[in-house]
Amino acid sequence: MAHDHAEIDLRELTETDAEAAWRLGSLAFGYHDRPMPTEFADQPGRVTWGAFDHSGRLLAKAVDRDQGQWFGGKIVPTSGVAGVAVAAEARRTGLSRAVLTRLLAGARDRGAAISTLFPTTPFPYRRLGWEEVGALTSYSLPTASLATVRDSGLTLRPATVADVPGIYSAYDRVARTGTGLMNRYGPLFDTTPEELIQDFDGLTVAVGPSGSIDGYASWERGSGYDERGRITAYDVIAATAEATSALLAMFGGWSSVAPTTVLRLAYPDPLWFFLASPLAKVEKRQPWMLRVVDAARAVEARGWPEFVSGSVDLELIDAECPWNAGRYRLVLDGGQARLEPGGTGAVRVGPRALGVWYAGAAAPDALRRAGLLSGGDARTDAFLQAATAGPAPTLLDYF
Ligand SMILES: CC(C)(COP(=O)(O)OP(=O)(O)OC[C@H]1O[C@@H](n2cnc3c(N)ncnc32)[C@H](O)[C@@H]1OP(=O)(O)O)[C@@H](O)C(=O)NCCC(=O)NCCS
Repeated sequence: MAHDHAEIDLRELTETDAEAAWRLGSLAFGYHDRPMPTEFADQPGRVTWGAFDHSGRLLAKAVDRDQGQWFGGKIVPTSGVAGVAVAAEARRTGLSRAVLTRLLAGARDRGAAISTLFPTTPFPYRRLGWEEVGALTSYSLPTASLATVRDSGLTLRPATVADVPGIYSAYDRVARTGTGLMNRYGPLFDTTPEELIQDFDGLTVAVGPSGSIDGYASWERGSGYDERGRITAYDVIAATAEATSALLAMFGGWSSVAPTTVLRLAYPDPLWFFLASPLAKVEKRQPWMLRVVDAARAVEARGWPEFVSGSVDLELIDAECPWNAGRYRLVLDGGQARLEPGGTGAVRVGPRALGVWYAGAAAPDALRRAGLLSGGDARTDAFLQAATAGPAPTLLDYF
């Protein structure tokens, strides 16, 4: 049964809606036994969109997070979608579609170029143009297998407040050369250096011969020391082989009391060149999806390969973000790219294919075989593929 949208009021939530929003979200995600945090109503960097019925009851909501993610060495302004929930009695009536379509327009108005989210189910998001491009994955390994990593002898020590800028730079270096990694600055990342250190059982830095922070690991020691004992590492980021091996050897040192080590890790990642990967098991995998919010802005915002030049004629199909729809020529030239209106519309792509291509998550021919891209030929495929080729899209942050 489709809702009569004339009866639905779509608007941004205000402080007076906080309790209704908490109730809806906490019921949907199962934390309704907790009290509403005092700061819930006012969280910088977040806008919540809601759908209300004629009596003013909140039926659906979705949060637009003002975040940035790295693509081709540049931070692309992103709408991170979270907290999507529809009242139990009102599901499957088009409310998530209504609230998310409104959110996309609002995100575009505030300057977002793309949108990303971690779905609990992909189907409603696919219908609206998001598609899976990557996953946040944790792998478990026998800790004893890390004990075989030869320790480089680099100095390891617990991080102090003074090390925190070095820790951030180590992450930034990796994020800048990756695809999709989160920019960890801005209103959504207001953790103080003291809090960062307190957030983990261990925040360990690897110090290079000249005193530089060459790598770090943030980790938690689970409870107990029997066969269930484990160490969970969140970031293991290193700029050199010596820092990588010193940090991994440190985890190996836990083998007598924590037989399992869980690493949150991209694939590929330089760490894999040190690990016994046949022994690694996927512990947890959280796929994430991407959608282009504003195609022209998204093309302008990301970095492009300096060594690829040329053009392709596209026809963008986009019902939910109609400002994107139409014929464009994508032109790449010396590390810059632009979408010029016009052209023959030879290659037809919907929002799902556009997002997957933008992130370099699949080859154009794979999109064609999935029915998401049509037209064009081997030459346009090769050009499109070269344009966004890069490391596999990765996030090391959940939201
Ligand atoms: C997931 C959820 C937000 C979907 O909201 P909804 O209002 O029921 O979805 P809509 O009615 O707007 O449906 C949008 C589209 O997705 C499809 N869809 C919705 N739920 C679906 C499901 N569970 N399986 C397959 N398709 C689904 C609909 O068919 C519709 O497509 P159409 O417009 O082409 O017919 C809602 O079920 C919910 O709140 N679930 C609990 C919390 C949750 O999982 N939130 C998502 C967190 S990422």
